[in-house]
Amino acid sequence: MLKVGIVGIGFMGMIHYLAYQRIENVKVVALCESFFKERLSGDWTKIKGNFGPQGTQMDLTGVATYEKLDDMLADPNVDVVDICLPPAAHAANTIAALNAGKNVFCEKPISLKAEEGVAMVEAAKKNGKLLMIGHVLPFFDAFNYIYQAKIDGRFGKCLGGQFTRVISDPVWLNLDKFYSMEGSGGPMLDLHVHDAHFIRTMFGMPKAVRTQGRLRGEAPQYFNSQFIYNDSDLVVTATSGCILQQGRPFTFSYEVHFEKATIYRLLQPSPRHGSP
Ligand SMILES: NC(=O)c1ccc[n+]([C@@H]2O[C@H](COP(=O)([O-])OP(=O)(O)OC[C@H]3O[C@@H](n4cnc5c(N)ncnc54)[C@H](O)[C@@H]3O)[C@@H](O)[C@H]2O)c1
Repeated sequence: MLKVGIVGIGFMGMIHYLAYQRIENVKVVALCESFFKERLSGDWTKIKGNFGPQGTQMDLTGVATYEKLDDMLADPNVDVVDICLPPAAHAANTIAALNAGKNVFCEKPISLKAEEGVAMVEAAKKNGKLLMIGHVLPFFDAFNYIYQAKIDGRFGKCLGGQFTRVISDPVWLNLDKFYSMEGSGGPMLDLHVHDAHFIRTMFGMPKAVRTQGRLRGEAPQYFNSQFIYNDSDLVVTATSGCILQQGRPFTFSYEVHFEKATIYRLLQPSPRHGSP
């Protein structure tokens, strides 16, 4: 039995908790939340995000609860620490958990600063522990399908494609923080990072990336990126960002071109509770 402690009981902390209930041989044994302390006694009613259910009253019987990560790290019952904190808090808390001898699953983006991401990987190596980042697309059937088709060549050579990920302004969050490069990094680090990760996985490391878009304050708000490869037949682009109208639902899509097939998918997560 793998015993998990979740840090940060916000939107993703809740989604992960619910997902673990459906996995055999995994048990959530501990929760840590420093700011919304009512969540440690099960009141998750104010939790919301860009998809999925509204939070509800939870029965946390048998789950240890902590206000400080250090106290959870001292709990020998916890094997894996699942970091569901805002991106600015990923590096310090991941490194603390790895140094305490725990394996770590950390939500994306790995960090807001490249040097912090490198330090997290170094800490995993130094402690001989696993570090996994929550890049989910390779695990979605729709994305796994095009990845496999490229690998086995069933439709001939893959010629690239276009990926999109667009959302309405996330008004349920603190927008100043969301669009701050020190807070969440805006839609580039929150949304675009998913497609950048998948493109890197499917097509390899590009030799350059060129992005053009409009800023909101210091953070890119809506933008197109071109991933440039040595093979000039390979044309790979991605669009991400936030649209101001609240009626715009969160959607993501791809159109991937092979010599003998074009594969198009438009996906929409189950709508946010109460969304217009
Ligand atoms: N993989 C995905 O598809 C996906 C989707 C949405 C969000 N995310 C990622 O999940 C992470 C969390 O996002 P969210 O939407 O759940 O944020 P959130 O603000 O809803 O939740 C974060 C929680 O962490 C708590 N917290 C902050 N600092 C803390 C600390 N030092 N110790 C303990 N608790 C602390 C906050 O009080 C809050 O409850 C982000 O990195 C985000 O990018 C991933």
